[in-house]
Amino acid sequence: MPDHADLIAALRGAGLVGPGEVVFQPLAGGVSCDVWKVDGPQGPVVVKRPLEKLRVMADWHAPVERSASEVRWLQLARDVEPGMVPEVLANFPALNAFALRFLPGCPVWKDELSAGHVDQAFAAEVGRRIARVHARTAGSAEVQAMFPDPAMFRALRVDPFLRHVARNNAAVSAPLNTLADRLDAARIALVHGDVSPKNILIGGQGPVFLDAECAVYGDPAFDLAFCTTHLLLKAVWLDRADLPAAAAAMVAAYAAQINWEASQALLARAGELTAALLLARIEGKSPAPYLTDPLHRQAVRRQAIALLLAPRAIDDLVAHWERTPE
Ligand SMILES: Nc1ncnc2c1ncn2[C@@H]1O[C@H](COP(=O)(O)OP(=O)(O)O)[C@@H](O)[C@H]1O
Ligand SMILES: [Mg+2]
Repeated sequence: MPDHADLIAALRGAGLVGPGEVVFQPLAGGVSCDVWKVDGPQGPVVVKRPLEKLRVMADWHAPVERSASEVRWLQLARDVEPGMVPEVLANFPALNAFALRFLPGCPVWKDELSAGHVDQAFAAEVGRRIARVHARTAGSAEVQAMFPDPAMFRALRVDPFLRHVARNNAAVSAPLNTLADRLDAARIALVHGDVSPKNILIGGQGPVFLDAECAVYGDPAFDLAFCTTHLLLKAVWLDRADLPAAAAAMVAAYAAQINWEASQALLARAGELTAALLLARIEGKSPAPYLTDPLHRQAVRRQAIALLLAPRAIDDLVAHWERTPE
C-alpha cells in the first residue's frame, strides 16, 4: 500500500477521519483510479484519486488532474437533481483527490443487470436524469468555461474507442474518423463521459451517477450512446429481450427531455456513436470483458460494422438489435 500520509492529513483537516489509525479499504472498480472506503466520525466516506496509468492497458496514460472535472460534474449534477449523485464532502485539488459520502446498501446497476434483474422504469430514469443534466447545461458559456480542456475525454474516449479502431479496421475507418472529428469539435452540453451500468448505483431515490472523470463540454449524444452500448452488449451476452427493451425505455425517456436541439438530430448522432462504441467494445483498447464467446463477438461486430456503413437513429437501432448470432 502506498504512503497515504498526505491524504490522511487532508482528510483529518476536513474532519472526515479521526485521530486514530486510518484504514483504506479498496472498493471495487479501480481501472483508472484508487478508490477507497474510509471510516470516520461523520460516517464512511469514499476517497478517490486518479491513477496516472490505467490498469486495463499498460500504455494508456491519462492526465491525473481529471479529479477536478469529476468534482465539477458531481456538483453541477447535484444542482440539477440532488439525489442523482453522492455529495462531495471535500476536494483536495493539490492531491488530485476528493471525498464523497459513501452510500450504503446501494447495489451497482451492472450487478443487478447481470443477475437478470432488469427494471424498465429504472432504465428510463437513467435516461431522464442524464438528459436533465444535458438540458440544464446546453448552450451555457459558463459551464463550458468550467470544462475548458477536452484532453481527458480525447485520451480516454475519442482516441481509444474511435481513432484506435479506425486505424485497425480499414473498412470503417472513414466513418469512425468522421465521428471522432465531430466529437472533438462538439461544444453542445456537459457530457459525463462514462455512463455505464458499473458507474450507476441503485439509490433509494433512483439512479446515482459516479465516476465522471471523463467529463467534457461536448456532444450529449455520447452519454446516451455509451450507456445504450452497454445494455445492447449485455443483451447479446445474456440473450435477454428485456435488455434492449430497457435501452428503448432509456432512449425514449431521454428523448422526451431534449429541448436544446431537434430530437431527431441528437438521436441520429447517438445512433452513429452507438455503432462505433459497439465495435470499440470488440476491437478497441477497452473490450467488454464478458464478451468472450466468439459467436457473441461476431454478432456484435457484424451489426456494428453494418450500422457504421448505413447508420440508423438510436431508437431505430435499438428496436432492430439482434441478440443472437446469425
Ligand atoms: N459514494 C459511493 N457510495 C458507495 N459506493 C461507491 C461510492 N463511490 C464509489 N463507490 C463504489 O466504488 C466503485 C468504484 O468507484 P468509481 O467512482 O466508479 O471509480 P473507478 O474510476 O475506479 O471505476 C463503484 O463502482 C462503487 O461500487
Ligand atoms: Mg467506475
